[in-house]
Amino acid sequence: MHEAPIYLDYNATTPVDPRVVEAMLPYLREHYGNPSSDHVYGRRARTAVEAARAEVAALIGAQAEEIVFTGSATEANNLALQGVARARLAEGRALLVTSSVEHPSVARPMRKMAAEGWGVTELPVDAAGRLRLNEVANGISPDVALVSVMLANNEVGTLQPIREIAALAHEHGTLMHVDAAQAAGKIPVDVNELGVDLLTLAGHKFYAPKGIGVLYVRRGTPLQPIFHGAGHERGLRPGTENVPHIVALGEAARLARIGLTEEARLLERRRDALQAHLTRSIPGLSLNGHASERLPNTLNLSFPGVQGWQLLAAADEIAAATGSACHAGEQAVSGVLAAMGCTRERALGAVRLSLGRYSTDAEIDQAATALIGAWRRLAS
Ligand SMILES: Cc1ncc(COP(=O)(O)O)c(C=O)c1O
Repeated sequence: MHEAPIYLDYNATTPVDPRVVEAMLPYLREHYGNPSSDHVYGRRARTAVEAARAEVAALIGAQAEEIVFTGSATEANNLALQGVARARLAEGRALLVTSSVEHPSVARPMRKMAAEGWGVTELPVDAAGRLRLNEVANGISPDVALVSVMLANNEVGTLQPIREIAALAHEHGTLMHVDAAQAAGKIPVDVNELGVDLLTLAGHKFYAPKGIGVLYVRRGTPLQPIFHGAGHERGLRPGTENVPHIVALGEAARLARIGLTEEARLLERRRDALQAHLTRSIPGLSLNGHASERLPNTLNLSFPGVQGWQLLAAADEIAAATGSACHAGEQAVSGVLAAMGCTRERALGAVRLSLGRYSTDAEIDQAATALIGAWRRLAS
């Protein structure tokens, strides 16, 4: 096992940017006040939380008061789905619509709500992982409270036509929630351009720490809290604010906003170089996900004749992910690849390589060499 393999798993989580660490440290050391306290310690914490709120809002084109800090993207997704569903029941809207490639933090609450009596439609995707707009249009009616679709898929990086889906939802007075956990910091995300009512962010996907998330809630959106407490975050997410993590998220959002265009260009160039290198050397290699409507950092490939986990075990110079998981000694295929219609063999051969801020050209070359070498050893 290599001590420090090349990190190609930025979609799982990113390291915390050293500038983000520097920004948060004073809020662990000296500025430890509770933002609700009426003295200088409290005021300092409160000011920092509000500055971070403005930074996060600026990243996604929102108003500061539309930003609700949560403990994770999972929590933000649960709050959006359950909060809107409950708030709109009185209007007689008891249906929810989603896609078949959502992260478990949307898919599982949807299934729980289905078990509790809500009508849930899971729309299929095409072979590239995209929803078809005619099927979305057919799935939405005036009884639908909420449509929830991710902006970018975590496994294959495919982007959904969110603006068009939101417009279809709004024709029926249906609200639109978007899980943008994988998109923020990698591609431009603007709540007004997308025309969405609720949107989820995850700090640890764009160089802030784990355990901090955001739910953007457009002003006027009906939403019931899941937790009840002392009224923090406009009563939508009570609990004393995680000031250091919120400050970190604000700094990460600022860095993402100012660096996004250049970083996305670099990521895409390196990702495409990696793809080209592997494609030249491995006959039968196939891309999972959309060729162009895709995150600039994500490369999900199926290697012929081997299983993804075997390949990664043999290429221990790199740290990457497979979509499959081992359950009771059997490899279970990725639900996302299955929804895209991949054969079992192709799905089991999949590896996700996701690049980030600290990936270098030299690392990409080494990673390609390691993967090609491992594949040749296993497939021969
Ligand atoms: C698309 C998407 N949504 C939500 C999440 C959940 O994030 P967290 O585990 O930080 O709650 C993830 C994390 O992998 C994700 O990729």
